[in-house]
Amino acid sequence: MRAVVTGGAGFLGSHLCARLLDEGWQVVSVDSLLTGSDANLEGLRDRPGFDALHADVSRGLSVGGEIDWVFHFASPASPPDYLRNPIATLDVGSLGTRNALELARAKGAGFYLASTSEVYGDPQVHPQPESYWGNVNPVGPRSVYDEAKRFAEALTMGYHREHGVPVRIVRIFNTYGPRMRRGDGRAVPTFIEQALAGEPLTVHGDGSQTRSLCFVDDLIEGIWRLLNAPVTGPVNVGNPEEVTIRELAERIVAATGSASELTFVDRPVDDPEQRCPDISFARSATGWEPRVSLDEGLRHTVAWAAAAWAAAVG
Ligand SMILES: NC(=O)c1ccc[n+]([C@@H]2O[C@H](COP(=O)([O-])OP(=O)(O)OC[C@H]3O[C@@H](n4cnc5c(N)ncnc54)[C@H](O)[C@@H]3O)[C@@H](O)[C@H]2O)c1
Repeated sequence: MRAVVTGGAGFLGSHLCARLLDEGWQVVSVDSLLTGSDANLEGLRDRPGFDALHADVSRGLSVGGEIDWVFHFASPASPPDYLRNPIATLDVGSLGTRNALELARAKGAGFYLASTSEVYGDPQVHPQPESYWGNVNPVGPRSVYDEAKRFAEALTMGYHREHGVPVRIVRIFNTYGPRMRRGDGRAVPTFIEQALAGEPLTVHGDGSQTRSLCFVDDLIEGIWRLLNAPVTGPVNVGNPEEVTIRELAERIVAATGSASELTFVDRPVDDPEQRCPDISFARSATGWEPRVSLDEGLRHTVAWAAAAWAAAVG
């Protein structure tokens, strides 16, 4: 089997490439390095069957040879990243998705979209099942990401209906783990960086808003299982263990053994109040369940960050 992974030099894309190689696939990563890094490819470059191309998939996507699946993971994913790159984010969700779908269609391959819990916006249904259509502000600052992903899902279903392209759509809920970029801006790496530096952890608002966080190994297992299940529509993959942002900050202080305190800052516009996946469908369709507890996942991530970020500075 041979896959193209767009966004292969990113956090999730690089873990996905590693998993596909472990499964005996050949993998071509295509990445513009907008928010990813060559460092994420370090462990992959020497592996047989791996190739990496530097290209912006919003401008076009051409890969020679046979392809079985195109995994479209390219897109800024952290709010500060997509707020800094609003048009590039809209482009990769629309033009990039179209180019990746065209490649899949031309090669007779399947197409696998990395979608997001952000399609639910600031949800009024809790936890969120796939049947919930969401509550997205279509013109707010976050809309560049949310609406791009909603469009990407619609385009994916359009290609499936019009051209018969086999598709998978995974709605990924907040995921964390090794290889998150320092300065990425998402809560887990931000808090870890602050705690390791002994600085105050910047909690948005009063920190009572909730998130549910999935460890990357669990997420990749869910993505793999979904690939092998005959499910065309969107499927939530995430960990339903819900914590307040304040509690997350406290747990990271504990996991790092830091003396940092918490400080409370303004909340970003349209920051969702609650986020928690209903994963009943993933459970019944694929048998998948997350296995790594938040404390265990944070321990792994802190150990990785302490070593990797210090090495990058040194
Ligand atoms: N990590 C999460 O919690 C999460 C949650 C929901 C959805 N997702 C989705 O998963 C995917 C990967 O997210 P991530 O957390 O690994 O983010 P990331 O920023 O680490 O990785 C994204 C990768 O895409 C690349 N990229 C962006 N635009 C590109 C373009 N036009 N052409 C080629 N490459 C491009 C970046 O350089 C980067 O390597 C994204 O599609 C994201 O929307 C992630």
